[in-house]
Amino acid sequence: MWHGRFKTDTAESVKKFTQSLDIDWRMYEADIEGSIAHVKMLGHTGILKPEEALKIESGLHEVLKEIQTGKFTPSESLEDVHMNIEARLTEIEPLGAKLHTGRSRNDQVATTTRIYLRKRLHSLTEDLKELMRVFLNAAERHKNIIIPGYTHMQQAQPVSMGHYWLSWFEAFMRDYSRLHFALDSLNECPLGAGALAGSTLPLDREMTSQLLGFDSPARNSLDTVASRDYMMDYHYFASMFMIHISRLCTDLITWNTQEFAFVILPDAFCTGSSMMPQKKNPDVLELSRGKTGQVIGNMIDLLINLKGLPMTYNRDLQEDKRGLWASLDTVESVMKIIAALIDEVEVDEKISRSGIDKGYSLATDIAEYLVMKGIPFRDAHTITGRLVGWCIENNIAFGDMSLEQWKEHIPDADEAMMKILSPEESVRRRNVYGATGFEQVKKQITEGHERLDALR
Ligand code: ARG
Repeated sequence: MWHGRFKTDTAESVKKFTQSLDIDWRMYEADIEGSIAHVKMLGHTGILKPEEALKIESGLHEVLKEIQTGKFTPSESLEDVHMNIEARLTEIEPLGAKLHTGRSRNDQVATTTRIYLRKRLHSLTEDLKELMRVFLNAAERHKNIIIPGYTHMQQAQPVSMGHYWLSWFEAFMRDYSRLHFALDSLNECPLGAGALAGSTLPLDREMTSQLLGFDSPARNSLDTVASRDYMMDYHYFASMFMIHISRLCTDLITWNTQEFAFVILPDAFCTGSSMMPQKKNPDVLELSRGKTGQVIGNMIDLLINLKGLPMTYNRDLQEDKRGLWASLDTVESVMKIIAALIDEVEVDEKISRSGIDKGYSLATDIAEYLVMKGIPFRDAHTITGRLVGWCIENNIAFGDMSLEQWKEHIPDADEAMMKILSPEESVRRRNVYGATGFEQVKKQITEGHERLDALR
């Protein structure tokens, strides 16, 4: 629309290729918010007459209303959200032609995107807190249920199911810190940086920064139009969060199989098969795991975009939002649906217990018992390992052995040792800080609620 130095119009194919409206239109509210702050400042500093600024401001409110009521539809031929809003503003109020004073789309898009992202991230912090609460509640529900704990997907030691849920609570707590780091890192206001070098006009950058709720104006005009670090900080949060979700999904999918069968998924979160009537498939878990690659891909996409870009703004940067939106939408939907699912997951205590009885996952408990009798741990490990070998050969479980049989293999075995040989005792006696002992789990649940309430 602004011809200036061009002799011909931009080719239609080029307009189509370079437009970003399909991507950035969702930021219209943030863009108008930024423009209102900018024009208030232009009026305040006397760069525009106060009454001019007021007219432009009310014109902007009018555009917002038109968008919200569906009266104004943007056009791709106007390239992006910024140009569309400015053009509509100028139709309503000719003084709109003064809005872009002391501003470039480079500092404008950097500001608009931060405002929009900040809002989305704040909403994610609430969703993430809710997810963590759901895990604490699941831990409470299942704190006395014993499941086999695995390393290398081999039965290792019995653990409390509550302890298992708490392990994800810890991971999500770290994700929460990463999310806040991303919020903190977008908290400088680019407005006033102009295209790259600032402005000859006496802009009040403190004022726009304050009006828009940023901590301060960005210190360096080149950096603030060039950098997308704050998006990367979000992407890293998102990728780690999805990796946690993905691993969680694998556990639940596995434990829900007919072979493990101790996790019961809510019917409402599973789907049937079009062919096999008996099927109840864990699709929500599989899809959440399946979406993880896209979120990681979006992070890699931006990293590759940024690598090798010269200072400062380059049009490549317009591609920064596509993956960001995709990632935000995915993370938000996964966070919500996983919270709803976990809230209804149940554990079949009998099945999870019986799985342990068949194995030898109390072997460490025996070795540690012998250690307390003065036997060096390495020797205790060998003695107990030999016994396990004998048991497997003779197809006999620990629980089936009499004290006499125990003594044949372990001369130090006694009545007291027989008493600790149950999964319940095994869990109960693991009472060091952070361990799976029932008492510890109870304490961690209480502390978890306190930590959650204390989050900013
Ligand atoms: N739509 C553009 C973006 O998202 C706005 C900035 C355009 N700036 C420019 N100098 N062409 O990056």
